[in-house]
Amino acid sequence: MSSPAPPSQASLPLQDREGVLDHAAGLILETWRGLDRARATQPPVEDRHRELLSRPLPAGPSDPRGALDLAADVLDVSITQARPRFFAYVGSSGLEIGVLGDALMASHDVNAAVPAGGADLLDAQVLRWVDEFVGFGGARDGVMASGGAISNLTALAAAREHAIPGYRHHGGHGVRAALYTSAEAHYSVQRAGEVLGLGGELVRRIPVDAERRMDPEACAAAIDADLRDGIVPVAVVATAGTTLTGAVDDLSALAGVCEPRGVWLHVDGAYGLPAAATPTAGHRFAGLDRVDSATVDAHKWLYVPKACSVLLVRRPSALETTFSHHETYMPHEGEQVHPVDRTLEYSRPLRALKLWLAFKVHGADAIRAAIERNLRQAALLAELLHAAPEFEVLAHPQLSAVCFRVPPPAGADPVRHNLELLHAVNEEGRILLAAAEVDGIPCLRACIVNHRTTDDDVRAIPAAVAEQAARAVDEVR
Ligand SMILES: Cc1ncc(COP(=O)(O)O)c(C=O)c1O
Repeated sequence: MSSPAPPSQASLPLQDREGVLDHAAGLILETWRGLDRARATQPPVEDRHRELLSRPLPAGPSDPRGALDLAADVLDVSITQARPRFFAYVGSSGLEIGVLGDALMASHDVNAAVPAGGADLLDAQVLRWVDEFVGFGGARDGVMASGGAISNLTALAAAREHAIPGYRHHGGHGVRAALYTSAEAHYSVQRAGEVLGLGGELVRRIPVDAERRMDPEACAAAIDADLRDGIVPVAVVATAGTTLTGAVDDLSALAGVCEPRGVWLHVDGAYGLPAAATPTAGHRFAGLDRVDSATVDAHKWLYVPKACSVLLVRRPSALETTFSHHETYMPHEGEQVHPVDRTLEYSRPLRALKLWLAFKVHGADAIRAAIERNLRQAALLAELLHAAPEFEVLAHPQLSAVCFRVPPPAGADPVRHNLELLHAVNEEGRILLAAAEVDGIPCLRACIVNHRTTDDDVRAIPAAVAEQAARAVDEVR
């Protein structure tokens, strides 16, 4: 018989930690069971939650089981993206093995800023696996970041240093420099231009074509006009899956624009790039092997919990050139590179672990099939909406985002009609949708990136919206 482990000598010991761990495992299991199927409605925040959450800082201890129960109760009345009928925004769906990965990661609390042995190898392997999965075709540099916004900023900082070497040390010295991106790009690209000191006005918003993809000819013309004016083109940012409609810019055509001009081509694939791994949508991403860098958010369409973004960079040492520091409290030995030399952050969790476990436990084929299922479900939703006379689909899905509306009845305010409908649908709580605007037309948007979503969950969308629309018409009468 093995002897019992000696008690912890920590100054903050968790009393009866085995029992508390069992209790926490029970709460997690209960949560997972609750997420398996949609619930009838979203329970409201009650007075007891408000009372609990207005209490002052506790000076003394309390029972950990009771505290965990209170936390679970608060979370139960919070909007949880992992539910199968959460279609608002580009959600994340808390893959179970990823949740366990997070718990294990936090227990070890490795700092992915400094050399950390096995963790560094795991981090590097995950970058290679994502590279292979999406078909990037040979990243020589890369990093895990908190989200797509930070991955985009990181890539564009490297592009700026590449376009204007020494910018990080000497500043711009009056050099004007620009970014080029789709009119429908995520605002994180605009913000990156602002934060990097290029100026928001020098983020050129290029018009989109009939398929809502950045027009490559207009992009080339904008770069050439800037070159004539002495403005340095820092990067073209293609979007592989716009947040609004899932449009994928033509990467081959944009590579054809960037290569002869020596301009860095970054792909914001935060939402859509995992679909490059699928037989159905893979063709949309042709040219990915010619781009300089790409963002993929694993907490979106690779299903792991937030926050887990991957930045792949083709140029060796591009990140190190942009971010590395030699500090007396952290000297480099010889050619040694610290993980922090590649990031904007300093202390970092080992974000790669949950994605490593996801690939290891499920395998790439099952993950690819789950993405395929979401693509099919978006097509199913578009079909159902097309078939019902009360709906109008505003942008046919290229990936898994569907924008649609209920055309306002005669006399109704065209702007408020769909917004009020959205509020009514979300208030009822059976499904959750987002508000959007396509070509100035207010509409509803569903984005399907959840491994728990079934076809029946998708069928609930037109059913729930039609019900609320009919109710609104009855109220007008
Ligand atoms: C295309 C695109 N890029 C970037 C982002 C920002 O990602 P994050 O919220 O992980 O920072 C999003 C978020 O939805 C997105 O859809």
